[in-house]
Amino acid sequence: MIFYFTGTGNSRWVAGKLAAATGDEVYDISRCLRSGEVPPVICARVGVVFPVHSWKAPRPVVHFLSRLQVPAGVYRYAVCTCGDDAGKTMQCLSRVFPLDAAWSVIMPNTYVPMFSLDTDLVASGKVQAARKLIAEIARSVQAESGVWKVHEGHFPRLKSYVVNPLFMRFVIRTRGFHTDEGCTSCGTCVQLCPMGNVKLVDGRPAWGASCIHCMACLHGCPVEVIQYGTSTQNKGRYRLARYLR
Ligand SMILES: Cc1cc2nc3c(=O)[nH]c(=O)nc-3n(C[C@H](O)[C@H](O)[C@H](O)COP(=O)(O)O)c2cc1C
Ligand code: SF4
Ligand code: SF4
Repeated sequence: MIFYFTGTGNSRWVAGKLAAATGDEVYDISRCLRSGEVPPVICARVGVVFPVHSWKAPRPVVHFLSRLQVPAGVYRYAVCTCGDDAGKTMQCLSRVFPLDAAWSVIMPNTYVPMFSLDTDLVASGKVQAARKLIAEIARSVQAESGVWKVHEGHFPRLKSYVVNPLFMRFVIRTRGFHTDEGCTSCGTCVQLCPMGNVKLVDGRPAWGASCIHCMACLHGCPVEVIQYGTSTQNKGRYRLARYLR
């Protein structure tokens, strides 16, 4: 079984590639959380794939895994996707979900409220390198190896234990979201939000209080009218499909 969580599609793609190589089945954590159904783990190995958010696993991932009942003896692994580095993400996660193996896969950056998107060249290079690494991960998973291959980057403790709590407390807000002229009321932003945090009110999106800043709504709007404050104007929008051709 492979459980995945995604905002903008990187982690779903990694989970799908792993599933194709291992023959394991994928489950969407956000769908499980929203339906309230946690599937029973009746298999020899269980994996989780998710994006790094400010050098930790996103809150819903931790919440879900803390409820998952895994029988003793099942091989447990995690793969995080990150734009640059993962800090102590996996150490933090392994406190609620003990791990036999862990990897980080570098994928294109998506956090446009603070940073710019990667150039097409950089993003393509990351996806190409990821393809090779995923094949290697799949082989290790099938062999149930005890690999720990996580790119922590500089000052990992500072990032995960000091910066993350500040980010959660002071940066994650929904009141910065708004739309430019041109919203077509298509509802894509509603469907894409993994937290069920967007609703259409009088044909326009309204953001609730359970946002995790994954940026799925902002990048996925087909007419690119969703903005966050003034920091996402002219930054472009991320589409993984662009780099999969
Ligand atoms: C809120 C947020 C925080 C992020 N924090 C980090 C980070 O701490 N380190 C990093 O390397 N990338 C960071 N990123 C980039 C993502 O981890 C990366 O782009 C990931 O592959 C996105 O996965 P997804 O498409 O499955 O949501 C962050 C992205 C978001 C949206
Ligand atoms: S995805 Fe964009 S166009 Fe569609 S409803 Fe949301 S903001 Fe409007
Ligand atoms: S509302 Fe927040 S959690 Fe939902 S898609 Fe947008 S950024 Fe992600």
